[in-house]
Amino acid sequence: MTNSHKPSAQAEHPLTLIPGPVEFTDEVLAAMATPSQSHVSPQFVEVFGDALALLRQLFFNTDKSAQGFAIAGAGTLGWDFVAANLIEPGEEALVLHTGYFADSFAECITTYGGKVTQLKAPIGDVVPLEDVESALMQKKFKLVTITHVDTSTGVLSDIKTLSALIRKVSPETLVIVDGVCSVGVEEIRFDDWDLDLVLTAPQKAIGVPAGLSIFIASGRAIDVFKTRKSPPTSYYASFAKWLPIMQNYEAKKPSYFSTPPVQNIHALLASLKQILSVPLEDRFAAHARMSDRIKSTIASYGLKQVAIREGYQAHGMTAVYLPEGVTLPELLPRIAKRGIVLAGGLHKAIATKYFRIGHMGVSVTDDDRHDFDKALAAIKESFGEAGYIC
Ligand SMILES: Cc1ncc(COP(=O)(O)O)c(C=O)c1O
Repeated sequence: MTNSHKPSAQAEHPLTLIPGPVEFTDEVLAAMATPSQSHVSPQFVEVFGDALALLRQLFFNTDKSAQGFAIAGAGTLGWDFVAANLIEPGEEALVLHTGYFADSFAECITTYGGKVTQLKAPIGDVVPLEDVESALMQKKFKLVTITHVDTSTGVLSDIKTLSALIRKVSPETLVIVDGVCSVGVEEIRFDDWDLDLVLTAPQKAIGVPAGLSIFIASGRAIDVFKTRKSPPTSYYASFAKWLPIMQNYEAKKPSYFSTPPVQNIHALLASLKQILSVPLEDRFAAHARMSDRIKSTIASYGLKQVAIREGYQAHGMTAVYLPEGVTLPELLPRIAKRGIVLAGGLHKAIATKYFRIGHMGVSVTDDDRHDFDKALAAIKESFGEAGYIC
């Protein structure tokens, strides 16, 4: 798949191929430079309304009882929205742990008074379905959180199967998905898979600079919020404040609770238009092909992935163990000298032992850029310099 290509208008810069932020298109960066505009002007209301409508398409959502949100903040703010609105102090949450980000989500829920049970997979693996089923049978959980792709390990969870299991065993439990490293690269059928809230951030596969908390909440989740016994436990991260604002903007009516980041919303609309200009299935397939290429090249270099189970490996990133005798400080600066920025490890238990490659967005979809020809060559040469011959 090739997006229309023209010489980039961007200043020369190192290729950022980490698991977010990713490279941005010229059109998105131009939208970030939109001159000042009132957040209640007809022009901006139109843009925000269109962005919220297109957001639904990214989640294959047509059920209007659900609502999309785009709010100044970051991916992390989505956790606060969940913890402050969908669970009340003293209620139980089940957190499925496939890496670093589950610990943080669990800490966020605890901060708002939720009681967390974590089911931890061995590093690089997923939690077995039987364990999820037996945990659900032991007590009533208000919600279950699943990290769709844990950015610290590259493990991909099967949210479709997990959601079906949760619905079968505990129909009222809300299914919450952290899609920060998956929305825009992995298939997510919000309505068909009966999900309750998927949260994300723009700087990964959505291809927009950081600065937004983006999520979609189901009608069921909104009803759970509306029937809370206690008020939401956050002022800013409150469905009570933001739900009418998002509904109004989507209906193209100006509305105010807190000033929206006008330029970021312009950039979101620009990116969503680009993403949705081809069928999403083609976008997912292009990412899957690139992921296969990177993972098989890494294997041909004699290197092992952190995510060990076939079929449960992310398509937008790859986490790779270093070979014996090569350290991160010996590798990453050599790759950087070749103009490519990769990421080090993040999972606390193995942080110094692996590195991460992000393969999301325009670097993948624009064949003419050859970003990964450059990256794979740089990795091979840098390992050679560090004394490991691929
Ligand atoms: C899976 C996952 N969840 C949540 C976050 C937090 O997002 P942010 O850094 O935008 O707050 C990240 C960030 O990388 C992430 O990868």
